[in-house]
Amino acid sequence: MMNIPFAESFKIKMVESIRRSTRSEREKWIIDAKYNLFNLRSEQVFVDLLTDSGTGAMSDRQWSEMMLGDESYAGASSYYKLKDAIAEITGFTYFLPTHQGRAAENVLFSTLIKAGDLVPGNSHFDTTKGHIEFRKAKAIDCTIDEAFDTTLDHPFKGNIDIQKLEKVLSSNPKAQIPMIIITVTCNSSGGQPVSIENIREVSRVAKKYGVKLFFDAARFAENAYFIKIREKEFARHSIREIAREMFSYADGMTMSSKKDAIVNMGGFIGLRDKEIHQQASVFNIMFEGYITYGGMSGRDMNALAQGLYEGTEFDYLESRINQVAYLGNMLKDAGVPVQFPFGGHAIFIDAKRFLPQVPKEQYVAQTLAVELYIEGGIRAVEIGTILADRDPMTRENRYPDLEFVRLAIPRRTYTNNHIQYVAAHIINVWERRNEIKTGYSIHYEAPIMRHFTVELGKI
Ligand code: F0G
Repeated sequence: MMNIPFAESFKIKMVESIRRSTRSEREKWIIDAKYNLFNLRSEQVFVDLLTDSGTGAMSDRQWSEMMLGDESYAGASSYYKLKDAIAEITGFTYFLPTHQGRAAENVLFSTLIKAGDLVPGNSHFDTTKGHIEFRKAKAIDCTIDEAFDTTLDHPFKGNIDIQKLEKVLSSNPKAQIPMIIITVTCNSSGGQPVSIENIREVSRVAKKYGVKLFFDAARFAENAYFIKIREKEFARHSIREIAREMFSYADGMTMSSKKDAIVNMGGFIGLRDKEIHQQASVFNIMFEGYITYGGMSGRDMNALAQGLYEGTEFDYLESRINQVAYLGNMLKDAGVPVQFPFGGHAIFIDAKRFLPQVPKEQYVAQTLAVELYIEGGIRAVEIGTILADRDPMTRENRYPDLEFVRLAIPRRTYTNNHIQYVAAHIINVWERRNEIKTGYSIHYEAPIMRHFTVELGKI
């Protein structure tokens, strides 16, 4: 009997051409880009794994929803369609639309976070941390230690260490801790899921200390998929039942809809509390737009509502997460050091183990990411020292425990042949890894979130 492979739960109705380039073209383009992959033009990239954010393919149903968009300034039917979808899928009855995830963070944090506050969580995403630090508050990473050993098998490496969390909560005044943030899945630790068991424990501790619990829910559906597969209690539950269970422990959520809701742009805040909603509405109107559109077109809210349903279908999630694992397994079988188990949206290469000869001061993960681009026109992203940025107080470089090159897989976009192409090139670099001896130095950097605009030179 043959093993039946995972087949996509869709077929392709429209295609976009992409062009391969030559190595010498890429060698020139990357110099012009100052060795910053964000500076490349998309035509200079063959397989673009920079991010899974906003890069997915919308369905025919989402496109048809676009035609039904209501562009009324106030009270648009698209707003109510989205409100109903959010209430059904997350259980949050209050919501504010925003133009993307970081905008949701900006509005929520303007409402709840002040200077001197502490915000514990599991490896906050960089925009989340940026918005916390911008307010002169501090993000405290309470992720379990297992997450920092890429060789260790653990089903829920996104989990929060309850002891670390309790230490923060018990040794600081409640008034200084506006919220705990659980990021599902945890992007910064490798797209790793958080278990319901852990969410329950965090919720128990949060209640004990009277602190609010929020989710950064960009990839909540992928998290729910892992719970179904790995947490016994939920093996027979649907993805939507699991999502509702996850959100039932939270006071609210911020969402970058560009991930699991499979739209190109959009975000929202979901809330249980009327008063927080009222306060946040003021900031939403100031920064985003009136509360029934908040930075989104009516048509985009329609596509997002439809995307929330499609993104929480089991068959879709199964083929998506197995495509990511397909890449992970090819790399792992060739000996390439990758974060294990594989994440939901991306494979994370452990750059320190790939290039141990490159000093950390020369940006190991960036060095590898540039090499993959030159090798095969593959654009990945550095999740290492450049992203970790400088300490806001001392201005010293922060060297994270892990230096990753992230290969993020856009949703419903590339075929497994593209994935094979990517794996083959990475394995070729792996085989000649000893030739790569030096990295880069920074020529220019912005004072905050420097990775987007950094300019580098070869050592
Ligand atoms: N939270 C998480 C966990 C994210 O991964 C992102 C974005 C955001 C918040 C911010 O959302 O981009 O809509 O403003 N992550 C993208 C990425 C950029 O490539 O991982 P946004």
